[in-house]
Amino acid sequence: MTKEKQTALILGGSGRTGSLIAKQLTDGGTQARTASRHGSQVIFDWDDLGTYENALEGADGIYLVTPTMRVRYVEPIAKFLDLAEAASVSHVTLLSTYNGDRAPEDIDVAAVEVQVASYEGFTHTILRPAWVMQNFTDEHLPIVDDLLIVPSGGGAEAFVDALDIAKVAAETLLSPDKHAGATYSLTGPQAITFDEVARTIATVSGRSVKYHDIDEETWINGAIAAGVPAQYGEMLRWLTGSIISGHGSTPTGDVEAVIGRPATSFEEFARRNAAIWTK
Ligand SMILES: NC(=O)c1ccc[n+]([C@@H]2O[C@H](COP(=O)([O-])OP(=O)(O)OC[C@H]3O[C@@H](n4cnc5c(N)ncnc54)[C@H](OP(=O)(O)O)[C@@H]3O)[C@@H](O)[C@H]2O)c1
Repeated sequence: MTKEKQTALILGGSGRTGSLIAKQLTDGGTQARTASRHGSQVIFDWDDLGTYENALEGADGIYLVTPTMRVRYVEPIAKFLDLAEAASVSHVTLLSTYNGDRAPEDIDVAAVEVQVASYEGFTHTILRPAWVMQNFTDEHLPIVDDLLIVPSGGGAEAFVDALDIAKVAAETLLSPDKHAGATYSLTGPQAITFDEVARTIATVSGRSVKYHDIDEETWINGAIAAGVPAQYGEMLRWLTGSIISGHGSTPTGDVEAVIGRPATSFEEFARRNAAIWTK
């Protein structure tokens, strides 16, 4: 970002990574403006074009979080990025997903990566995180009756700490020239199974948490019955299918390459958050 104009617009500003990035930036002396529908400094709604220009006012860098719980969203993102380019934004850091370039065509993950990279007016960085460790501490993958229930077929995943994603994202916004055109696959230091996750949670919380594998379609149908939009089932099928087929994420070292310290292990994360599971 230029010295004269250092405001980063943080979309998804009330979310897991966005809220942490804003803190990283302000701690580093750079202005961050969080934006989302609720709980941010500025109201921003992907479904309301009228909120785009106000959010972009004075912004030099952007952390781009796509709308959640849907699979088609490249059109509003293109409209937003057209306005961002016209407003002289100089860098966009996109939060994508691990293997985003290989996402199924009926999910707009790869299409958004291509869209972000298509502008000449600003540079970009693409972040492709593995499954986030915070899935186990929020409503995504809760421990219910001491059971962790997720389809995995015994496959492993190199879960990453959202705080590490936030640190990498903040770094790309603070030194965009250094990270222009880069794609980072953000993972933890080890690929571990869900059984290992449950055992680690049991150790740090003192509860007898166990992992229970489940049929993928049964799990997805359960999520839809619980309120997840039916079209989002396709995303869940892709994410769980990768792990079941043995193609879950593997450690990359990209977190350490950007922030200069090793990625957080699941055990460290679990110890830091033990109180959540002991309640
Ligand atoms: N969970 C994982 O394991 C994982 C792994 C890799 C990548 N990802 C990607 O991470 C992204 C989510 O990022 P996150 O975890 O930092 O956020 P998050 O905690 O899921 O929160 C989503 C953020 O986006 C905002 N938002 C949702 N819909 C919106 C809309 N229509 N208009 C404006 N803002 C909207 C939410 O605020 P409001 O609801 O108040 O608007 C919130 O601030 C997703 O794209 C997901 O694919 C997740």
